[in-house]
Amino acid sequence: MQTTHANTASRQVAGPARQPASLAVCTPPLARRPAARSCALHRTSEQSVSTETSQSAAHSERSLVFEQQRRFLLAGAAATWLSTLVQLPAEAANVSTVFVAGANGKTGGAAVKYLLSKGVSVRAGVRDIAKARASDLGKEKNVELVEADVTKSSEVLTAAIGNADAVIIAIGYGGLNPKGFEDVDLKGTKNLVDAAKKTGAKQVVMLSSLLTNGAAKGQGTNPNFLFLNLFGGVLNKKHEAELYLRDSGLAWTIVRPGGLSKEPESAVGNLIIRGEDTLFGRDEDPGREISRETVGKVLVEAVLQSAGKDKVVEIVSSKSATTPPVNEWFNV
Ligand SMILES: NC(=O)c1ccc[n+]([C@@H]2O[C@H](COP(=O)([O-])OP(=O)(O)OC[C@H]3O[C@@H](n4cnc5c(N)ncnc54)[C@H](OP(=O)(O)O)[C@@H]3O)[C@@H](O)[C@H]2O)c1
Repeated sequence: MQTTHANTASRQVAGPARQPASLAVCTPPLARRPAARSCALHRTSEQSVSTETSQSAAHSERSLVFEQQRRFLLAGAAATWLSTLVQLPAEAANVSTVFVAGANGKTGGAAVKYLLSKGVSVRAGVRDIAKARASDLGKEKNVELVEADVTKSSEVLTAAIGNADAVIIAIGYGGLNPKGFEDVDLKGTKNLVDAAKKTGAKQVVMLSSLLTNGAAKGQGTNPNFLFLNLFGGVLNKKHEAELYLRDSGLAWTIVRPGGLSKEPESAVGNLIIRGEDTLFGRDEDPGREISRETVGKVLVEAVLQSAGKDKVVEIVSSKSATTPPVNEWFNV
């Protein structure tokens, strides 16, 4: 890619100098300069202004175009260099493909977007391939849609994970049957962990929730704990799934967010990231909500950052917080 840019660059630099003056004057400028002005200058020289004035105008116009092209090329080279830097963490972590369970969900989708922005290919686990193909996910390059209902046999899930270097679990039961959390959030997560072990994936990152360990940490009467656990005991099921993952022998990361917001990070607040059992959604905590966009980033960076392994992180956000540098996120 860099070679192509370099070739284009040398062609663009050489171009204007070889053009006849009349052409150069009417060359559409690359930068902000309005095209009409160049041609208006040329017409003036044909009508009444002296040849000397016309040549001088043409000369300064050529210099201007040349300078604009030089700046354009420098900006292009800088962008290429920056994009190389942006992709470094994935290369450094030796991660080229990640499987995302629940890829068509709101948080799973945010993780997919962030993976793609880092140059990582995605095996997108979905329940309904046809539905996913018709969605935005189906239009993405470097995304392979794979069938992955987590209540199905381990063969289905092993095939879905395939050659992925890591697994991100972003599933969650969304129906009205209280047993759904047992089947999807608990057994489904266990099924995925078992499948990941068979495929040789290096790491499993699980999207969980604040307060999953609330009962053991003096939060049994916390209204958020009581409310969230009321229907189907989702926090208890997720906590049991967390323990299963931690015991699996795989490298693992558990990401426990506060209340998820569909609004972008810029509207919700900057990341606050803390260690295990430190945030409980209380009024005195530094934040209670977090954008799914931010959660998606943390799920992915858990794979890309070497410090992201074998730990629980709890995340919320606040407009008054300053997002820490990404290489410090997992120093908790
Ligand atoms: N809402 C909150 O404030 C909050 C706070 C903390 C933690 N959480 C947790 O965050 C997670 C994700 O939340 P979200 O808002 O992103 O949810 P979401 O948009 O509803 O996404 C959930 C995903 O789970 C998938 N799923 C459900 N059953 C499945 C099954 N049997 N097999 C495979 N995939 C299945 C869904 O697949 P389909 O696309 O096929 O439906 C969907 O992609 C949930 O586990 C939730 O408990 C939520």
